Amino acid sequence: MFNHASIRAALSEVPLVTRVVFFDTVGSTNDVARQLASQGAESGALVVADEQRAGRGRQGAQWHTPPGTALASSLLLRFDGVVPAERLALLGGLAAATAIEAVAGLPAAIKWPNDVWVAEHKVGGVLIESAFEGDRMCWAIIGIGINVNGQIDDRGFDYPAATLATLAGRKVDRLALLVAQVGAMSRWLVGLGMPGFIQAVDTRLLWRNRQVSVDDGEQHTVGTLLGLDAEGAIRLQLADGSTRSVATGTLRRA
Ligand code: BTN
Repeated sequence: MFNHASIRAALSEVPLVTRVVFFDTVGSTNDVARQLASQGAESGALVVADEQRAGRGRQGAQWHTPPGTALASSLLLRFDGVVPAERLALLGGLAAATAIEAVAGLPAAIKWPNDVWVAEHKVGGVLIESAFEGDRMCWAIIGIGINVNGQIDDRGFDYPAATLATLAGRKVDRLALLVAQVGAMSRWLVGLGMPGFIQAVDTRLLWRNRQVSVDDGEQHTVGTLLGLDAEGAIRLQLADGSTRSVATGTLRRA
């Protein structure tokens, strides 16, 4: 069963989650979480939907969440002190990847900064939305979508995509996946500023030692992907042998 009662019961031992809001059908769980944030909802409000009709991806893309097959969740977080905001996307990706490993038994890789891939197919993505007062982050929403069961027609996508079930050869339990994902976020959130967090992402990095390009909107950098630096930026070795870190952008195979 994947409904409000089962999710609330399964997450009752996770102190991070203060409230569960569940929809059979909704536009976008991130939109609901934004509304909750603007109404003053507490940190830890978790919005989950069986189906999204207007799911959103990064850079204005659509995100498909057909009924009965996918995992769509948005977690609202509020912060007192300074937050390394760029690490929240890595946190979402790491949580989804470790949940996929634990529940589906698949080796998940993180396509920096915030996609989750298995066997050269995208299976999930993370959408971070946040609000600032000056330099201070007031709240952030970690929206995570995973293609779990059924099949995906990726014609028309600019990347290969698949569901976990297709890759694992069996149905995957969405509730177990959600519990593992939220549990991982809860554990890693405490150590977000620690080197161990970046290492955990780094060991799952997709396309290490491959030729890649990164576009950060201003610069197109091509090189061999070496790994992450201490801040979580991606390190490339350029053709002239020098290395460069890029803090944000879209990663592609070169
Ligand atoms: C991407 O890969 O572009 C990010 C996809 C993020 C999709 C999730 S599903 C739950 C949450 N609600 C949304 O509308 N988007 C995110």
